[in-house]
Amino acid sequence: MRRITVAITGASGAIYALRTLRALLMREVAVDVVISEFGWMLLRDEAGFEGKQRDFGGFIRELYGVSVDNMALHPLKDLAATLASGSARSDGMVVVPCSMKTLASIAHGLSRNLIERAADVTLKEHRKLIIVPRETPMNLIQLRNMVSVAEAGAVVVPAMPAFYQKPETFDDLADFVVGRILSLLGIEHDLYPAWEG
Ligand SMILES: Cc1cc2nc3c(=O)[nH]c(=O)nc-3n(C[C@H](O)[C@H](O)[C@H](O)COP(=O)(O)O)c2cc1C
Repeated sequence: MRRITVAITGASGAIYALRTLRALLMREVAVDVVISEFGWMLLRDEAGFEGKQRDFGGFIRELYGVSVDNMALHPLKDLAATLASGSARSDGMVVVPCSMKTLASIAHGLSRNLIERAADVTLKEHRKLIIVPRETPMNLIQLRNMVSVAEAGAVVVPAMPAFYQKPETFDDLADFVVGRILSLLGIEHDLYPAWEG
C-alpha cells in the first residue's frame, strides 16, 4: 500500500486539501495528515469544519463517504512522529494548499514543526515533494522561494485550475489540481478527461 503525507496549511483553498484526501483515500492510499494552526482555521472558514481535531476523520468520511481507516492525523508539534525521520517509510508528500510562510520555511530548511520537518526529510531522502502554493500577486521573495524548493527537488504545482475541461462545480475546479498531484505521484485517476487534441 502506498503511503503519502498530506500537509494542510493556512493558504486559501481548503477545498484542494479535502479533494486531495478524498482522491487518495478512494484509491486506498494510506495518508499521514498534518495540519497547521491556520490550516485548521481555513478548514473551518472555507469548508465548515467546526469540530474538534479528533473529529476530522469523521468529517471526511461523512463529506465524501470514504473510509478513513487508512488516514492518520499527526499533531503539528510532534517532532518525534515517524514523519520526522527519514527511516520511516513514505512514498512522498504534498503540501496543499501551501502558504507563503510554509513555503519560505521549507525553502530555508527551518524544520520548526512537523510539516516543515517532514518536507525537509522528504527532500533529503530524494522523495517526491509536491508544493501547491496559493497567493497572488507574488513578491520577489516568494518567487525566489519557489525557485529554491524546485532547485532542491520539489515540484511546484500552483493552485491554478484550468478551464478547458469545462468545470461545472468548485469540486471540478479543485479536482483539476488534484489530478495533477495524483499524476505526479504516479497514481492513476479519472478526475478530468484527458486532453485529446
Ligand atoms: C482567511 C485567510 C486567508 C489566507 N490566505 C492565504 C493565502 O492564500 N496564501 C498565503 O500564503 N497566506 C494566506 N494567509 C496567511 C497565512 O495563513 C499566514 O501567513 C499563516 O501564518 C500561515 O501559517 P502556516 O503556513 O503555518 O499555515 C491567509 C490567512 C487568513 C486568515
